[in-house]
Amino acid sequence: MIGAGYVGLVSGACFSDFGHIVTCVDKDAAKIGRLKNGSIPIFEPGLEPMVERNIAAGRLFFETEPGPAIRSADAVFVAVGTPSRRGDGFADLSYVYDAAREIARELNGFTVVVTKSTVPVGTNDEVEAIIRKTRPDADFAVVSNPEFLREGAAIDDFKRPDRVVVGTDDARARRVMGEVYRPLFINETPIMFTGRRTAELIKYASNAFLATKITFINEMADLCEQVGANVQEVARGMGLDRRIGSKFLHAGPGFGGSCFPKDTAALVAIGQRHNSPVRIVDTVIALNDARKAAMADKIVAACGGSVKGKTVAVLGLTFKPNTDDMREAPSLVIVPALAAQGAQVRAYDPAGMAEARKLLPDLQTTADPYACVNGADALVILTEWDQFRALDLDRVKAAMRSPAVVDLRNIYKPDDMAARGFAYVSVGRESVGNTVASAATAPAT
Ligand SMILES: NC(=O)c1ccc[n+]([C@@H]2O[C@H](COP(=O)([O-])OP(=O)(O)OC[C@H]3O[C@@H](n4cnc5c(N)ncnc54)[C@H](O)[C@@H]3O)[C@@H](O)[C@H]2O)c1
Repeated sequence: MIGAGYVGLVSGACFSDFGHIVTCVDKDAAKIGRLKNGSIPIFEPGLEPMVERNIAAGRLFFETEPGPAIRSADAVFVAVGTPSRRGDGFADLSYVYDAAREIARELNGFTVVVTKSTVPVGTNDEVEAIIRKTRPDADFAVVSNPEFLREGAAIDDFKRPDRVVVGTDDARARRVMGEVYRPLFINETPIMFTGRRTAELIKYASNAFLATKITFINEMADLCEQVGANVQEVARGMGLDRRIGSKFLHAGPGFGGSCFPKDTAALVAIGQRHNSPVRIVDTVIALNDARKAAMADKIVAACGGSVKGKTVAVLGLTFKPNTDDMREAPSLVIVPALAAQGAQVRAYDPAGMAEARKLLPDLQTTADPYACVNGADALVILTEWDQFRALDLDRVKAAMRSPAVVDLRNIYKPDDMAARGFAYVSVGRESVGNTVASAATAPAT
């Protein structure tokens, strides 16, 4: 497994748990040093015991030097990053191509080179060409095997996926991939064999569709606020229709994370490159960017039109719960926007604060949610961590200077919050209590 990041580490650990012998290789020596001692560099529920167990069983190894592992491997997976390239949004494939050259030099006997990284259509043709050029004598096949796991639920997603997509026309590679994923047949996971380019596109089409679904319900939320409807009920009413499904219909502050923003941008760039524009996705990106900024305005409005000199407590910084991943998190737009307007922003996140401090160096963080809200003029819920769903609300209210809550994840009920004496603003639902918005447009409830 080349690359021991979120995908490589989880995939490597799960494959070893299936009984395969796995070596995870990463250029980051500090990361490998920690992993060798059983210490996990990322926050992912269930991963640490699985890694420990498989190290102890002699099935899972960590190395900085890929040579020996590649030489003895039946399959070499590439799980390196494919970030957005500055300027044009196209995926930066330099890590993938570097890995291909490194793999090529070590190939020994028939080896399947499997790209797990999310890569644009045609990338695996280029990977094959690079390996062929570097090692004309090598016996290998290049396979596309995109990964669909979600951070925060990665182990379950990997072990019980909805499908495994394997893009290859090579019969020998197909057999090896069938063996690698054989433990999943017990769960009757559909393994879909397709052409390589189709497999590459399935990944982007899936992520872009999910991002579109989120953006759709976010626009519905805005409309709900204007017409007095409830977006959670709209989403439930839609989701009960099995043709639509209930997943990814939660209105919020806009999508973030390491995948949707870069994969939507890359799909648009792929479309442009092939003269086949993907206009829906282009629009989704623009709407999502605008939404993050609009959320800062929503908070300012809930604070009476100005946050100057006010203390805003933010609960949740990561782009979603159960991860420490801060990449493209809405907080990275919202927190600086509030600070720029003179707010004193204070934040707490169960797992993301160390990462957040690197990206938001001026951010003041606290040891727990209650210290965060102490003396605050407004509380903003940005990420729906479980522990924020079960806050002692009386304690929160007593600690705040003014009990205004902006819940951008709709984790509380407007009626409950009003009954407890909060001014409460959420997404796509009625604002309650003595909120500035409701005071201006309707009698306070
Ligand atoms: N994170 C997710 O939830 C997720 C889900 C599905 C697919 N993906 C895709 O999987 C790929 C990896 O994503 P990630 O989040 O795991 O990235 P990551 O940044 O967490 O990890 C990538 C790792 O690869 C290492 N690396 C880079 N070049 C290397 C080389 N030549 N040799 C050894 N190590 C090398 C880096 O040091 C890093 O540790 C991306 O294409 C991403 O789009 C990610």
